Amino acid sequence: MGKPALKEIVDGYLSGKVSKETMTEFLRAVCACGLSDEDATLLTEVMVESGERLSFTPRKYPYADKHSTGGVADSTTLVIAPVVASCGVPFLKMSGRKLGHTGGTIDKLECFKGLRTEISVEEAERIVDKVGAAVIAQSKELVPADKAMYKLRDETGTVKSLPLIASSVVSKKLASGAEVFVLDVKTGAGAFMETVEEGTALAKLMVNILKKSGKKAAAVLSDMNSPLGEGVGGVMEVIDAVEVLEGKKSRLRDLALAIAGKIVALAKGVSDEEGAAQAAAALDSGKALSKLKEMIAAQGGALDLFEKQERASLLSQAAGIVRAEQDGYVAAIDCVKLGFLAREFEASGGYGMLVPVKVGSAVKKGDALVRLYGEAAKGDALHALSACFSIVEARVKPDPLIYKTIT
Ligand code: URA
Repeated sequence: MGKPALKEIVDGYLSGKVSKETMTEFLRAVCACGLSDEDATLLTEVMVESGERLSFTPRKYPYADKHSTGGVADSTTLVIAPVVASCGVPFLKMSGRKLGHTGGTIDKLECFKGLRTEISVEEAERIVDKVGAAVIAQSKELVPADKAMYKLRDETGTVKSLPLIASSVVSKKLASGAEVFVLDVKTGAGAFMETVEEGTALAKLMVNILKKSGKKAAAVLSDMNSPLGEGVGGVMEVIDAVEVLEGKKSRLRDLALAIAGKIVALAKGVSDEEGAAQAAAALDSGKALSKLKEMIAAQGGALDLFEKQERASLLSQAAGIVRAEQDGYVAAIDCVKLGFLAREFEASGGYGMLVPVKVGSAVKKGDALVRLYGEAAKGDALHALSACFSIVEARVKPDPLIYKTIT
């Protein structure tokens, strides 16, 4: 299509010269026919140019950022930010709120009482200078074209398109000023990209656009057939992340370290093995745990969730348990439904849930599949949660955590 034609339609839609109907026709055409990689890159550029583009004062290592395409029980940012900062790489991320069935990082951060996320970029840079990391709410001046187009995509059923998702995600990353990016493309029943093939295509397109724009970038394709961590819902996801920083072994830890290690390798120009070793050392030494406390305090948040007693008190308020109805193996978990039910439970006064099983877990009749905390859950909520799990007699192979890495 070329840049002038793409600019005409995107800028025209923002200024009102191009109608909703014409933009919808364009979005539908892209959904049906795709875009060449070159046009997807140009569309991304045009979207970035619709708003402000940040840049930071150069430091010893470039600013880094990560992005997840959206998963259930995914609090990796709360582990990655302090691990990367502990390795000396500045980390500044702009995050969003809950989207669909997945929780947003901003909602999680706000579980630390008093924590501010509506922070100016100048203040965020000062926090990064002092502490090494900051996670703040997305600035409204960045990529207004994405805001307008995403709203229309949502209304017209044109969200699921590789070039539209890639240009939406990457335009926000490019505008937010970092130089190093690792993208976590979720794959499976609980993700936008249900198959490894689709996930690979999206990851490759996003990495290519970032690289063509002069950035260092890589992507991991990670599993979303099961919730990533055990905690589902704001405060439970925060507790999960804090426990990982205290040394708990889990898939959340493994994925967070894989992403953090890759970020450190790209930012410092060291090998993947060296990046991974530095990330693991930052976590295992307890340095990253202290760093998260510093980051939370610098953003005005209370530190009670780091106190074991406070966490034990939250976990003492059991609100219900969903149990396995037979012996067997977990064959499938409906993560989309589980995510929506967790949001409903939180909205009705619950703190969140713990889901101790994954696809492939062996269970005995009566074992807990979900533990709920906070306000007592209603019977129909427990029933709906139970329906999210399918249990079969024959052994089920667990899914890999990372299907592949794209560089
Ligand atoms: N997340 C985004 O930011 N944009 C999309 O199009 C899909 C997911």
